[in-house]
Amino acid sequence: MKVTVVGAGAVGASCAEYIAIKNFASEVVLLDIKEGYAEGKAMDLMQTASLNGFDTKITGITNDYSKTANSDVCVITSGIPRKPGMTREELIGINAGIVKAVSSSLIEFSPKTIIIVVSNPMDTMAYLVHKSTSLPKNKIIGMGGALDSARFKYRLAEALQGPISDVDGMVIGGHSDTGMIPLTRLATRNGVPVSEFLSEEKLSEVLEATKVGGATLTKLLGTSAWYAPGAAVSAMVQAIACDTKKVFPCSVLLEGEYGFNDICLGVPVVLGKNGIEEIVKINLNDAEKATMVESAKGVKAVNDLL
Ligand SMILES: NC(=O)c1ccc[n+]([C@@H]2O[C@H](COP(=O)([O-])OP(=O)(O)OC[C@H]3O[C@@H](n4cnc5c(N)ncnc54)[C@H](O)[C@@H]3O)[C@@H](O)[C@H]2O)c1
Repeated sequence: MKVTVVGAGAVGASCAEYIAIKNFASEVVLLDIKEGYAEGKAMDLMQTASLNGFDTKITGITNDYSKTANSDVCVITSGIPRKPGMTREELIGINAGIVKAVSSSLIEFSPKTIIIVVSNPMDTMAYLVHKSTSLPKNKIIGMGGALDSARFKYRLAEALQGPISDVDGMVIGGHSDTGMIPLTRLATRNGVPVSEFLSEEKLSEVLEATKVGGATLTKLLGTSAWYAPGAAVSAMVQAIACDTKKVFPCSVLLEGEYGFNDICLGVPVVLGKNGIEEIVKINLNDAEKATMVESAKGVKAVNDLL
């Protein structure tokens, strides 16, 4: 399994590190436009190999896409992150040009690749890759819901004062502060609905803290977060590499599913060797459906800016 990660910044490097540590890929190519930057990050990461016990070979490249040839999975993290007070949507002006050029260069050398889009505004960037390339829909996957769900589980465990490993839950909808939909009704603690343990008020606090999870970290760090985003991407790449058929909420092109068309939006999907193996249909209640419609409106408005 050869994986290319474009953008050797905070998220790209974290993603390469987690992929290597999990030891399922033979090769990770880190590519950046900044001269020597990816080479430096790759060398630094390779010097952790004997300490962390992995055999994955990490190579750093400055903008030479021929070195990415025949990648099974390509991850796009290139672009600018948000600063405190900014929304993800404000990044579109710069990131759209970068994502379009990067995806086209990747496909030139890896025509059969699966692309995972991370750069923000992610739902719109995933849509842009659909519109500007000829990759089939199962091979273009936006990463947002996997991260938002991990943040949701963190907040749930905090409220329950229990271990995160006991908690399950999912966030669907658009990857934005206003668009994401933490499914509190379906979240469980060891198989029992969390509503058995948490009051409505507490659950709504969890929901709100999850929605602003990225903004909270951006305020603390001065830029957007990288450990959990990198871990979320690596978990998705692992599901594809090992054909696990695990379910993740991902931003995928909808063609009638959940009642939407011509939009990339976060819904549960099965990930395996073909990328998106299946879009999973879950029954949403009326309130959740209405929130999903509002979320889609928000994403469409950003898509219109393209
Ligand atoms: N989808 C998500 O859940 C999620 C989570 C966190 C961050 N993000 C997004 O990921 C992106 C990266 O965030 P970051 O914190 O790693 O930023 P960063 O600034 O640390 O890294 C971005 C890297 O991209 C490189 N780059 C810029 N243009 C390029 C090009 N044309 N070709 C190759 N490399 C190029 C830069 O040199 C830089 O090293 C941002 O858009 C951020 O908003 C998304």
